Amino acid sequence: MFYSLSNGILMPKIGLGTFLISNEDAKSVVFEAIKIGYHHIDTAQRYDNEKGIGEAIKNSSKPRSSLFITSKQKYHMPFEEAKKAFFQSLEHLQTEYIDLFLIHWPSHDKFVNQETWRFFEWLYEHKYAKAIGVSNFTKSHLEDLFETAKIKPHVNQIECHPGLTQTPLRKFMAEHDIKTISYGPFMRGAIFEPPYKDVLEQIGKKHTSTISQIVIAWGIQQGMFMIPKSSDLKRLEENHRAASITISEEEIQEINQLNRGKRVYTDPDNNPWGIFQATNT
Ligand SMILES: NC(=O)c1ccc[n+]([C@@H]2O[C@H](COP(=O)([O-])OP(=O)(O)OC[C@H]3O[C@@H](n4cnc5c(N)ncnc54)[C@H](OP(=O)(O)O)[C@@H]3O)[C@@H](O)[C@H]2O)c1
Repeated sequence: MFYSLSNGILMPKIGLGTFLISNEDAKSVVFEAIKIGYHHIDTAQRYDNEKGIGEAIKNSSKPRSSLFITSKQKYHMPFEEAKKAFFQSLEHLQTEYIDLFLIHWPSHDKFVNQETWRFFEWLYEHKYAKAIGVSNFTKSHLEDLFETAKIKPHVNQIECHPGLTQTPLRKFMAEHDIKTISYGPFMRGAIFEPPYKDVLEQIGKKHTSTISQIVIAWGIQQGMFMIPKSSDLKRLEENHRAASITISEEEIQEINQLNRGKRVYTDPDNNPWGIFQATNT
């Protein structure tokens, strides 16, 4: 059910992605997901749904310690401004700490990333975040960060799915004890279409499982955390049940061969959020 991060924090292997779920919808979707058994909710300041998630968590009546909440800093900003935005996230989520806080996108300026990371280390040292990490960082972004980091990121949340297996980056991260969170595991729906569909469906038949379950199992068995998004009750259940499916090493390799370096999200080296923004734009 969990994998351990390098600092010993236990993080659930399956979480709920909430990108494009509104505040209003988050209240019911996250509430239902927690009822099904999801313990990990992935959000971001940028998703503008932390308030709805906070409400859902409160209404679930689950002890805070039984849940794992990830959020992400909206953009690179000065220390005091970042602090204000962070505490607003806590207020919206109705919590006193976050389990995992991430830099959402790398800056193109390594000094900006290093400065932002200093704030993240402050959050960790003051126990406002139980773990800290990055998202969309490439190998070179990580190497630049290591130059000044006192604490290495505990995770890197990256686009990763059968069409983009990220094998070299994941190998580099494993060497530095940085865990991978796979985002966009269903390629925003493309894995349900050829050429991915054919291979995944065939493997699914052998395990009486669906395409989505095979992809989640593929990720988990390679040591990744998976955060599929769904707003549909049946699919939430289906995705969550993938935790009990085991596919063979040959099947994992067969899926890895679908890799075409295909991104469905932005290339981190060309992301438009890499500048240091002093105002909320
Ligand atoms: N760090 C970053 O920069 C970053 C970027 C993108 C995403 N993320 C995170 O990763 C999460 C997941 O990525 P994603 O939302 O882009 O896409 P995804 O999880 O790859 O795919 C979601 C799509 O698949 C559908 N779906 C879900 N379960 C299904 C099932 N069992 N059968 C058929 N269709 C199914 C969903 O529709 P329904 O809702 O109708 O079921 C939705 O259209 C996000 O929500 C977010 O938390 C992070």
